[in-house]
Amino acid sequence: MARLHADLLDKEFWYGDMTLIPNRLPDFERDEVDLTTFLTKRMAIKTPLVSSPMDTVTGSDMAILMALMGGIGILHYNFPKIDEQLEEVHKVKKFEAAFVKSPMVLGPNNTVGDVYSIAKKYGFYSVPITEDGTLKTKMIGFVAHRDVRYQENMSLSLKEIMTPKSGEHGSQELITANRKDTLDKNDVRVANKIIRKLCLDTLPIVDDDFHVVALVTDSDLQKDMRFPLATKDDNKQLKTFIAVESRLEASRERIGRGNDAGVDGIVVDASIVFKEQLEIAKYCKCNFPDLDVVLGNVDSAEMVRSIISEASEYCDAIRVGIGPGYVCKTQQELGTGRAQASAVWDCVQEAKRLEGEYGFMPMIADGGIKIHDMANRDVTKPGDITKALALGAKTVMMGNLLAGLDESPGEKEFDYETNRMVKRYRGMGSLEAMEHRAAFRYGYDQNREPIRIAEGIVTAVPYRGSGYDFVPQLIAGVKQSLQKQGFRNILELQASADIRPISRREK
Ligand code: XMP
Repeated sequence: MARLHADLLDKEFWYGDMTLIPNRLPDFERDEVDLTTFLTKRMAIKTPLVSSPMDTVTGSDMAILMALMGGIGILHYNFPKIDEQLEEVHKVKKFEAAFVKSPMVLGPNNTVGDVYSIAKKYGFYSVPITEDGTLKTKMIGFVAHRDVRYQENMSLSLKEIMTPKSGEHGSQELITANRKDTLDKNDVRVANKIIRKLCLDTLPIVDDDFHVVALVTDSDLQKDMRFPLATKDDNKQLKTFIAVESRLEASRERIGRGNDAGVDGIVVDASIVFKEQLEIAKYCKCNFPDLDVVLGNVDSAEMVRSIISEASEYCDAIRVGIGPGYVCKTQQELGTGRAQASAVWDCVQEAKRLEGEYGFMPMIADGGIKIHDMANRDVTKPGDITKALALGAKTVMMGNLLAGLDESPGEKEFDYETNRMVKRYRGMGSLEAMEHRAAFRYGYDQNREPIRIAEGIVTAVPYRGSGYDFVPQLIAGVKQSLQKQGFRNILELQASADIRPISRREK
């Protein structure tokens, strides 16, 4: 077990009050460090990073980024309608798949404009054309990006430009693969070979009657090679979780429809766990046993004990952190909550104590990961992430650090006061965010309770550019920290970290 210095025991301490002492001589390179960990009891991920279900942090673009990097994104639910959240799920699941099942199809009388509408929504231009524009009828042609790229006439019918099945109009041959050689064997290699050999963008997979059953795309092939750590399900689609309301009545429909849309788990989103949320976990597990359930938030051994002893079979991970976040006001407004590093340590210790009786329960360290940037220098300081892991958290959930990326919802803007580009970042407990479903997170039942206490603020964070540059730096920083301490993986860190106080609070 990691060693916590006596001066920190029985004290409240933040990440900034502690340091990790290197006391081994490493004999391996940074990139040999393996950050594989457990998000939930049964779900391993290769990067211990989770994006928070906040409406200025995780929509589909962030969830895709996080999953490609080996972590995971929790899609927020602060939309007026459930459908809008499910649309985000859909985008994540459609993003990358060995076989894109139930692909979009159009009919011969659809237009070039319809292809552009699909491209705008989902980012691809290749569409099989079937007799009546549904998957129920035979494929009669195919439209690829090259067919529409230079078309200016948006009302031109697709039958005029598609590559037809029969090779009419002296056109190219329509290339397909049979499902028996590919999809039925869940083997994408035959399809990939054809794509590479013939330099195709997309290969339709058909059955013996020429009905389209799936697509395989070259861009997915390339993504596969670029993101070897990606968090994927059995269909090779990216994994994602959704946040759901912390009231049973309100969350039921979202859980069921989320399950149908293919989500991998739910986070019952509450600033502090109420008993009712254990009921939601039970409801979810009894009705949708394939979904993983995350409960939270907690900050004490007692709360962890209550969840584990009352609901361990319904819960797969626990979120730790009450009020440590960048936009949180809970501690000031309500006088509750505590220093995040102590909270993580205590909760992990309690879960370990109960492990023999109830089994493993991973903790997610949620909030309070800081990075300081003066004039945009020094923007990646993953030290807090390693500290949270050393204290025993299996993963780290972040809002502030990710809110300034291109992949968070919202546009960057120029801030004349600080003379730099920023993105808006708001607490889900801000009055503004609580106008929608986020009110549930703070225990309000949307239409009741007219008096609301703001537990969060609306602010802005520095614009940090593309997450595809930023997150790899975070990951490399965490690996480097482990390497410097002589640990090859998170298990070794958690077994032997030497955690001591630092005399000066980190600036
Ligand atoms: P960071 O520090 O990464 O924290 O920005 C993200 C976490 O903060 C929590 N959160 C809030 N807590 N009032 C709070 O007390 C709020 O308005 C609020 N909004 C988000 C949440 O746990 C998130 O993951």
